Parts: sequence; structure tokens; C-alpha cells
Amino acid sequence: MVELTRVALNDTIKTVWLLSGVATVIGLNNGLGQTPIMGYNTWNDFRCDNVSAANIEKVATAIIELGLHRAGYRYVNIDDCWAVKRDAEGVIVEDAEAFPNGMKSVGDYLHARGLKLGLYTDRGTATCEGRPGSEGYEELDAQTYAQWGADYLKEDSCNAPSDHEAAFEQYRLMRDALNRTGRPIYFALCGWSSWYAPVGKGLANSWRVGYDVNTWENVWYNAIVVNERLAQYAGPGGFNDVDALIGSTPGGAVSLTTTQSRTQFSLWSMMSAPLIIGSNMLHLTTFDLETYTNGEVVAVNQDPLGMQGTVVWQNCPSTDLSRDQSVENAPVPNCQQIWAKKLFDGYAVMFVNFTSTSAASAPWTTHRPPEGKALEALELDVQAVFGWEAANARDLWTHMNLGIHRRLVVVLSGGNGESKVLKLTKPALEVKV
Ligand code: GLA
Repeated sequence: MVELTRVALNDTIKTVWLLSGVATVIGLNNGLGQTPIMGYNTWNDFRCDNVSAANIEKVATAIIELGLHRAGYRYVNIDDCWAVKRDAEGVIVEDAEAFPNGMKSVGDYLHARGLKLGLYTDRGTATCEGRPGSEGYEELDAQTYAQWGADYLKEDSCNAPSDHEAAFEQYRLMRDALNRTGRPIYFALCGWSSWYAPVGKGLANSWRVGYDVNTWENVWYNAIVVNERLAQYAGPGGFNDVDALIGSTPGGAVSLTTTQSRTQFSLWSMMSAPLIIGSNMLHLTTFDLETYTNGEVVAVNQDPLGMQGTVVWQNCPSTDLSRDQSVENAPVPNCQQIWAKKLFDGYAVMFVNFTSTSAASAPWTTHRPPEGKALEALELDVQAVFGWEAANARDLWTHMNLGIHRRLVVVLSGGNGESKVLKLTKPALEVKV
């Protein structure tokens, strides 16, 4: 009798333990991504060519010598094309020519310099470039990545079921396998769809909400149009991912104009998106370096509240997201937006002119067009939007204090992605202006 009770009690304890064990893997429990991660990714730079240990080491050296590491860029993410096959035991194998000393030695090299190793896989049978995928190998792959010292894993969605529940299940498998390694590995889900956002935080540290961003048109359609309605799903531990930064440095696989690249960086900061540099890192221009190391804009991205900014005014046309998101290079409309993001000590506001023509010819309508400026300026009424009598404004690109204002009037006559980012704080004293 006594013996039976003990067994029953043990069973109860075991059940409770099992239940709590299950509870710990319901979500990702790595504690990472409290603010959007910052780093570099090979895809927009090298594509499938030249992804090698030698180049990764050069990139790491550049990150440190340029001061990007000090500015917060720590993750060095190796995208598609590093893996070639599986061995007899099913273990994933690196390209021996490109990684002659194995991936662990790349991890050691990065860790010795205070950087982090990011790897790439796919939830299906093969990656987008036809390399081995993780389907059916989640446990083994997660253990292998952990042994190599990986700090980040991007899992893509090529050659995999597109059914939502099947996709979530595949991401759960890798999430739980990563949890079981005991190594904190940032998990970046790459499913190119807004339908991941409502469940994103339960699955990963970030989730791609749209298709690849390779052009200014993609910035508009695959990032802004998709992500402007997903703000509620972002927060510490999990953020909407709108793909890597492009930059304006020539020589990478893709690039934007200088104006557009800076606006992309500002928009990504307003949207609390991961700041993953996708430029030609080995020949980075001074302009791009200045963009990426603007500490005042980085601080907007890294704000501890982790709130994604929202559009507070726009004259851009509403887009039906149910239509095929893969429409490449849908034209950027002639329109403007004003974004606001709540910060722990104020607000960031961004004024963007997407139109490719000059602002003067665009049909501007704002909260209250200033006299004589109806067709040229964007205006924001501080009280109407933020409830303050007036705001202290600072331009985060010119680094100038602009004084205290009740109304913010911004002229963006250049067009083609020209923008301005201001930080607003509440004036210390009540002011009469
Ligand atoms: C997909 C992803 C990209 C990149 C490539 C690699 O297109 O969306 O970000 O990883 O695959 O093949």
C-alpha cells in the first residue's frame, strides 16, 4: 500500500515535471533579441559566390576596423551556399574548398573578436540555391550548429510546404531543437509572409514578413506596405523582419541611391527591424559607413521599449495585400508618409517622400497645410498627434537642435525617397510659442 502510494506520487511528480518540460518549449526561450539584432549578412553582398572562410574573416576585420562592431553590429551571418551535402551519418557538411578548416574555426575566429556566428538553413528538403535543407534533420542540425558555436540561425522556406499549419510545425521542430541544445541561438524565421506575424513570437526571435528586398520598389512593396500594419506583433524578444539593408556602396549584388539607402536605414529603425547590413562590406563607402554608424538613429532602432513605429499620416494608396506579394518591382507610388515611434524618452518622427518626381508636383495634403506651402511641405500638429502642447525637436541626421515647436513643417523637395528623422522630447517647462 505504502509502496503503491510512493509510485503514484512519483508518477505525479514525473507528470508535473514532463508538463513543465513541455511548457518550457512552447516558445523560444533563449532570451535573445530584446532589441532588434544588428549585424551583417552575406546574401546582398556575395550571393552564392565567394562565400568562404577567407572572405568572412576579411568582413570581420572590416567590421572591427570601421568601428561597426562598436556601433553594435555583432552578428556575421553566412547565408545560403555554405553547405554542400550530408555525410553518411546525416551530418551537414560545409563546402570543403571554401571552409577548409571547418565552420567551427570560423566561429572561433569571430568569437575571439567579440563577433557572433550566424548560419543559414531551410525548413524544406533543399535551400533556395539547392543546398541540403533541414527537413527531417532538425535535431541533428541544431546540435551541429551548436557544436560549431553558432549564435544565430536563419531558416528559409524554399522547397517546403506553403500550408500555414505545416509551416508553423516545421518552425516549431527547429525552435524546439535549438532550445534543446542549451546554447542561446537567435532564431530568424524566413517565411516571406505577413501571416507569420501573429504567431511569430511563439516561434522565433524574428520573422520575415515579405519577399526579398533588392530594389527601392521592393522597399516600398515588400517592406513598407506589408509591415506598416504589423506593428502590434513586434516587441522585445520578437520583431518583424523586412530583410537586410541594401546600402549604396557599388560592387555588392544590389544597391540603392545614397538618398534611398539612408531612408531605408531610417525606416528600418522606425520599424524596429533587424539592422543587418547587406552591402559590399570590403569596400564600404564613407557615406554608407556614416549611415550605419549614426548613433542617434541606431538608438531609435534599439530603443528599450521595442515598439514598432506606425504611420500617423499618409496619402499613399492602400494596397490589397491579398494579391500576390511576389509582384516584383511594382512601381513606387507618388506619395508621402509620416511615421511616429514611441521611445522611452520621447518620440521619433519620420517624414518620407516616396515620389520619384519633385515634391512640388505631388498632390500633398497634410493635417493642416501651412500657408503658401500646401504643395511643398508636410506638416505635423504636435498636440493632435502626441498630446503635448509643443515639442523639443532634434534632427537626427544633421544632429541639430531645432528648438521648440507646436507644428513641425518639413519640406522634402528632392523626391525619390528623401526623408527627415526628428526626435521629439517634451520641453521641461511649459512654454508659450
Ligand atoms: C531567399 C531568402 C533570401 C536569401 C536567399 C538565399 O530568397 O529570402 O533572404 O536567404 O533565399 O538563397
